[in-house]
Amino acid sequence: MRAVEFQEYGGPEVLKVVEADVPEPGPGEVSVDVAYVGVNFADLKARSEGYRVPSLPFRPGLEISGRVRAVGTGVTGLAVGQKVAALTQDGAYADVVVADAGTVFPLPAGVALRAGATLPSVLPTAYALVHTVGRLQPGETVLVQGAAGGVGTAVGQLAKAAGARAVYGVVSSAAKASYAQEYGYDEVFVGEFEQAVGAATDGRGVDLALDPVGGETLRASLASLARFGRLVSYGNASGEPAWTVGQPELYPRGLSVAGFSILTLAQTAPEELRTLTEQAFATAVDGTVTLPVTAEFGLEEAAQAHRLMGARTSTGKLLLRVAR
Ligand SMILES: NC(=O)c1ccc[n+]([C@@H]2O[C@H](COP(=O)([O-])OP(=O)(O)OC[C@H]3O[C@@H](n4cnc5c(N)ncnc54)[C@H](OP(=O)(O)O)[C@@H]3O)[C@@H](O)[C@H]2O)c1
Repeated sequence: MRAVEFQEYGGPEVLKVVEADVPEPGPGEVSVDVAYVGVNFADLKARSEGYRVPSLPFRPGLEISGRVRAVGTGVTGLAVGQKVAALTQDGAYADVVVADAGTVFPLPAGVALRAGATLPSVLPTAYALVHTVGRLQPGETVLVQGAAGGVGTAVGQLAKAAGARAVYGVVSSAAKASYAQEYGYDEVFVGEFEQAVGAATDGRGVDLALDPVGGETLRASLASLARFGRLVSYGNASGEPAWTVGQPELYPRGLSVAGFSILTLAQTAPEELRTLTEQAFATAVDGTVTLPVTAEFGLEEAAQAHRLMGARTSTGKLLLRVAR
């Protein structure tokens, strides 16, 4: 079978198509004939700087859709041929992928394989940021970095559906700003946002800020919170040193800071991930959230997808088409 791997860290060119053995599922695992792979920013971080890479060569990829090929011993509730979506840390850029059965989800009725590959990472993450961790209440205001991206487009729609009074986005270009406004955002700022949030909220700030960027952006997001506001950190796209926050930033205005990692949740609390995923998928089924696929590449063109996302020009979700 085909797989896409890298032997060294670097630009998109380090991604190589290789021939690999078809993996067999072990106990509690399922193998899947992959139809589509969703491209995540974490795949680029793995390739460029070794994010969650235990050893080389490494095969990136976290989310797929496809049909169950084989089930390992002890697996219940999944059958050969069944259409599924899966979150996997075993390298999704391949014709066949093995995943822990706990992170393989029957595709909800009415969701096509193509749309299914957009869901497993982005949608539960967005749902957790808005609800489980962010605890958004009707009438509150929200500030979201990377508003036009995969997680960002889902968050905008979920926050609006949860009754947010205003959802503010931050993006890196004017084209992305108008795009994000189609997905729940009331106002989208390009680049600098601290002053813009102050102006938009009459100096009050926002109740909830969601930050996948870190560094200076995290500091400005904290400064953009209203009294008793909450910030959820869920990434470090900036590559800046790990942030710290403490008494001086939090006490005066009663602020809270939380974090979220879907991959750690999958490893440490698969039952919680399952509950979260079911809640999240329901929002795709009932039409609350649409995840737009804006570009599709063949598996062997994975480097092109990385180039597009890495240049900060992508919007919505990028897919790799695997089934031939
Ligand atoms: N913690 C979790 O469980 C979890 C799960 C999924 C995703 N994430 C994080 O959520 C973010 C979005 O993920 P995605 O897969 O949906 O990707 P995406 O948003 O579709 O694309 C990458 C995003 O990163 C932003 N970006 C790229 N380079 C940047 C830089 N140097 N500084 C600041 N922003 C930069 C871009 O926004 P602009 O160009 O508009 O700034 C773009 O929206 C990523 O940071 C990812 O690591 C976290």
